[in-house]
Amino acid sequence: MRGIILSGGQGTRLRPLTNITSKQLLPVYNRPMIYYPLNTLLKAGIKEILIIVAPERAGDYSNLLGSGKEIGAKLTYEIQDEPRGLADAFIIGENFIDRENVAMILGDNIFEDDFTAEIKNFKKGGKIFARQVPDPERFGVVEFSGSQAKRIIEKPKRFVSDYAVTGLYLYDYRVVEAAKSLKPSARGELEITDINNWYLEKGELEVAKVKGAWLDAGTFDSLLEAQNFAKEKLAGKMVI
Ligand code: G1P
Repeated sequence: MRGIILSGGQGTRLRPLTNITSKQLLPVYNRPMIYYPLNTLLKAGIKEILIIVAPERAGDYSNLLGSGKEIGAKLTYEIQDEPRGLADAFIIGENFIDRENVAMILGDNIFEDDFTAEIKNFKKGGKIFARQVPDPERFGVVEFSGSQAKRIIEKPKRFVSDYAVTGLYLYDYRVVEAAKSLKPSARGELEITDINNWYLEKGELEVAKVKGAWLDAGTFDSLLEAQNFAKEKLAGKMVI
């Protein structure tokens, strides 16, 4: 299994903090934010990791993490020129993915759960991780029919369920073909939700549930929450 950390974007909601560096390099307690998703991958035994970054921040990432040798990983970098959506990562990462399975995690997503078993046991198709949230309209949401996932809906206007799709996704190499088949959505992005529906329509999408905390640290309030959470619950469990 290879890993991708999507760490692009302009971090506009966190200005002026992001005027000088990338959102995913801002401090979350005693580490840069990206260490948390990186930790999730490394802990699960993923060593070959592609980090996708915005052009103006590429130097910051290589200064911080370099080749990855010091943390026992092989890191490579690609530049995402425009924020074209989460699914664009699989087009950028086509050569890197090759014929392997891939775990993609968002650079601002912080998980309490350990996904080692889920990642090690993954064979083919797609697998996503949903969590109950009070504000599902902000996310991709799982619509259920009984206990079966029926459809994934990106930022639904009407309530369908309170299970949000979190920023960790496991796919086989066909994700590249799926990404290439997508048309940009109304917001002009290649949506990861469309990738998930691509697998779901084939009966090959598994939806697991996240038990512990899940934070996306993209706003001032969630960043502050993440800092406290990292101090109380995560600091002692990190491998980097
Ligand atoms: C993206 C995805 C959404 C997912 C979320 C997780 O949202 O489009 O499906 O639930 O990440 O953080 P965005 O950050 O693009 O609004």
